Amino acid sequence: MSNIAELDAARGTRFEFWARRKPAKSEAEHSVGEAFALRAGALLVYRIAALPPYFQFYAYTHHTNEPLTLEWDENAIELSLFYRFHPESVAEEGVTFLDLRGGRLVARPKEALPAWYQSDPDRPQLRFSPFRAWMNDPNGLCFVDGRYHLFYQFHPVEAEWGPMHWGHAVSDDLYRWTHLPVFLHPEQNLWSLGATGGAFSGSAFIGPDGHLSFYYTERLPAYDHFKDYKELQKLVVPSTDLLHQEANRLVLVDGPSGSAHDFRDPKVWYDASRGVYRMVLGAAIDGDPAVLLYGSDDGAEWKYLSVLYRAPEHFRQHGARCVECPDFFEIDGRFVLVMGLVGYTEPETGRHNLLYAQVGTFENDRFTPLTPALQELDFGTDFYAMQSFRAKERQIAFAWLLNWEFRKPAGSPYSGELSLPRVLGLDTQLRLTMLPEAGYRALRSGALTRESSGHFVCEPGQPIELSLAGALDGIRIVGRGGDGESFTIAHDSGRLQVSVAEDAGGIEYRSTPISLQNLTLFFDRGVLEMFANDGVVCCTRRTYKITTLTMLELIRSDATRFDACEGWSYSSVWRD
Ligand code: FRU
Repeated sequence: MSNIAELDAARGTRFEFWARRKPAKSEAEHSVGEAFALRAGALLVYRIAALPPYFQFYAYTHHTNEPLTLEWDENAIELSLFYRFHPESVAEEGVTFLDLRGGRLVARPKEALPAWYQSDPDRPQLRFSPFRAWMNDPNGLCFVDGRYHLFYQFHPVEAEWGPMHWGHAVSDDLYRWTHLPVFLHPEQNLWSLGATGGAFSGSAFIGPDGHLSFYYTERLPAYDHFKDYKELQKLVVPSTDLLHQEANRLVLVDGPSGSAHDFRDPKVWYDASRGVYRMVLGAAIDGDPAVLLYGSDDGAEWKYLSVLYRAPEHFRQHGARCVECPDFFEIDGRFVLVMGLVGYTEPETGRHNLLYAQVGTFENDRFTPLTPALQELDFGTDFYAMQSFRAKERQIAFAWLLNWEFRKPAGSPYSGELSLPRVLGLDTQLRLTMLPEAGYRALRSGALTRESSGHFVCEPGQPIELSLAGALDGIRIVGRGGDGESFTIAHDSGRLQVSVAEDAGGIEYRSTPISLQNLTLFFDRGVLEMFANDGVVCCTRRTYKITTLTMLELIRSDATRFDACEGWSYSSVWRD
């Protein structure tokens, strides 16, 4: 049976959706009308003649002023993501998501998203997450014409990892985001091949002429050849409105000898003093995770230069397969390398896929770390695939809040969230520091009530902040929800330790030794992000068990002395 709905569509409106044939449950459910058709008045302007059994991308642009009618057959078509936008107004208005459920069309323009985002008790309110489906790494971060652009690894057809696209959103302040149309698609229809891969991670690059482009990895299935997949590097020139690609060219096919099929996640910069382009890539060399350095005179022809960093044998011995998402940037005259070691499990604690930094100098294409030791970037580990970019004289970073330990409960319409924006710096000992970008203060809705016991009362579902300074060694902080402890933070045996309700004791989440002088933590419907001693020790954990807090308990030791103790409640960034 066909369903009919009127669609709001001024001339130039574009519709994009992903769909496949719905398996028929019974003979009676076989399709009778159109599976999906659009009519402008009496004229048919678009129809899908035959839907494949795998997902496929479809698009239609309305070129007349006639009102548009959608006819679809719920028994014949399954749509995963469906939205419309007008290219001229989308930068402000965003896309309007369209849901076809129960024979009805529900349109969700930007104004309807606060209700959608706030209605999920496990959905963070201070952080970006996709409307639907799966996201992972932040990609292509940049600041263009006064606005921040976020691209991200996106699988539009379900809340699971799969063929990768680049989702896109824009913000004026790094906190409040407007959804834009999907920017990059895989080169091939990977669903039809029964394969994964696609438009993998990459970054934005501002060239010497001030023009923006993107470098990214395309992963192609390679079957028996080259261990299942082949990773290639591509260069994308975006349209001036950043809504789609104007040109896409292959710039690098093969890795150096000793490298294998993991060869991805380019980060590119222009060295103005030498007039040269440089690129780092994540890979493995003879089985050791490594960061590779490439050079170019024009950004298009690339030559392998050297191994910028090679992980000590210890990492390979404990499961590390390759470096992912290497980041390399300059702060205060030093160079900082940040990388994820995928597959690695730290033998002492059981934590996996840790993110590390090294600070050093970079001269004549040689990176010389100040110390051979790696700095652990976030001891909670739910902070992965960090990418940073330069804007307004600051190095700003986001990361993906999942590290494959705990997953969002089944049935959620989406998976994947971003960290708070973090501003990077170096402390007096030249260690990398990360602190939340100051815009969070403007999102506070009021001070938390403090009871005579010293505990803070939380407003259910509202994000909170706790900021402490003083002599904090020995302190314990417990976030309590309806039926138990959501998380516990303890300064114990000279280290910060964190546990969440899911923890069964197998993995120890603890910092390097620290004497605690200040601590700022945010809890937001299951996301705990914490910054200690001006951001030199950070911890991010994602819990799904108790995501609504009622109380924040502060338990002091004899040695604890507070010079400052503030608790704040927040309103959602997903609001009008
Ligand atoms: C890191 C990563 C990247 C890759 C992308 C694929 O999370 O594995 O190395 O480009 O995700 O989605």
